[in-house]
Amino acid sequence: MTDGRRFPRTLAGLSTGSYCSAVTTARQWPEPGPLSGISLALVGPGRVGSALTRWAQGRGARLEQVAGRTLSGRAAAQAGASGAVPVALPELSSARQTLLLIAVPDPELDGVVATLAARDQAPVVLHTSGSRDAAALASLRARGSAVGSLHPLRAFADPAAEPLPGGFYAVDGDPEAQALAFRLTAAWDGVAAVVPATARRLYHFGATLAAGGVVTLVSAAADLADRAGLPPEVARGYLALAQSALDQAARGETPRAALTGPVLRGERGLVLAQLAELRRLRPELAALATHLARETLLQAGAAAPLDAAQQALLEALAEAENMT
Ligand SMILES: NC(=O)c1ccc[n+]([C@@H]2O[C@H](COP(=O)([O-])OP(=O)(O)OC[C@H]3O[C@@H](n4cnc5c(N)ncnc54)[C@H](OP(=O)(O)O)[C@@H]3O)[C@@H](O)[C@H]2O)c1
Repeated sequence: MTDGRRFPRTLAGLSTGSYCSAVTTARQWPEPGPLSGISLALVGPGRVGSALTRWAQGRGARLEQVAGRTLSGRAAAQAGASGAVPVALPELSSARQTLLLIAVPDPELDGVVATLAARDQAPVVLHTSGSRDAAALASLRARGSAVGSLHPLRAFADPAAEPLPGGFYAVDGDPEAQALAFRLTAAWDGVAAVVPATARRLYHFGATLAAGGVVTLVSAAADLADRAGLPPEVARGYLALAQSALDQAARGETPRAALTGPVLRGERGLVLAQLAELRRLRPELAALATHLARETLLQAGAAAPLDAAQQALLEALAEAENMT
């Protein structure tokens, strides 16, 4: 098999073309690298699988086998860029590797695991789903692998993305699987914590709120500016405002410290007038805005007792909720 320390063939950030855009070769790490001695097999050379294996290779691990939906396509490209072998999923036997990483879309996971469990696999198997826990790999555990999950709390859009220092990873599973997951995340300068099966659903929904939820709100704000006939610069301004608010939130001990605006100040007359106009224009958004304003005050109230103006607004919002 290939010696990982001879990787990469090209420098970090160089993509190999449009189809192969998800396949970039690994950044060289000063030898021997914190992941030296680790060999990998990958199922799912998509956005997450190709990034995590490239990061691991860049720190000394060797990628030896890659399986996708087909032998051609991304599996061949990822294998070709790494000196690994593309393998058909039913043929994949990773028992000689240290780690089998499964990074397929969530709806495919059970079927892929059932196929993989027909053979002995690596001593540690990890999947990258945020919504599933280690139990998704139970049939591989029954065959003797230590199993777990390693979920990067990040949106993978840029195929050349490097690990974010301090980036968060959720881990769970058997002790050997957790230990390897923590070793990987430490090599990526990340922060990892155990997110157990019982907390998985809320953890994943929190991620949906923090990413898609925030973007949805900024998008709704831009839509309002558009309806009001305002120029596109206003929407860009909202985006910059959201960015600065998040920067502020990241600086505080908790995001609550960055709460701001007329709702927080308890400006009852202004807020109720805005909600009334919204109800006329976009009733479904008015309902969301009313709930959101209540949540702002509940968050504020969790940090310090509400003052009289805030309390009055909270009560008015409860009444407004009945009207929406
Ligand atoms: N995208 C994100 O931002 C993100 C962030 C954190 C975690 N995750 C999680 O990471 C996992 C992978 O997501 P992704 O965004 O990387 O997906 P993706 O870009 O769509 O890639 C999925 C990969 O799985 C392969 N695949 C699909 N069905 C398969 C099957 N039946 N047998 C073998 N291989 C199969 C695909 O093969 P081909 O190459 O042949 O098409 C592709 O390489 C999911 O669990 C997701 O929830 C995603």
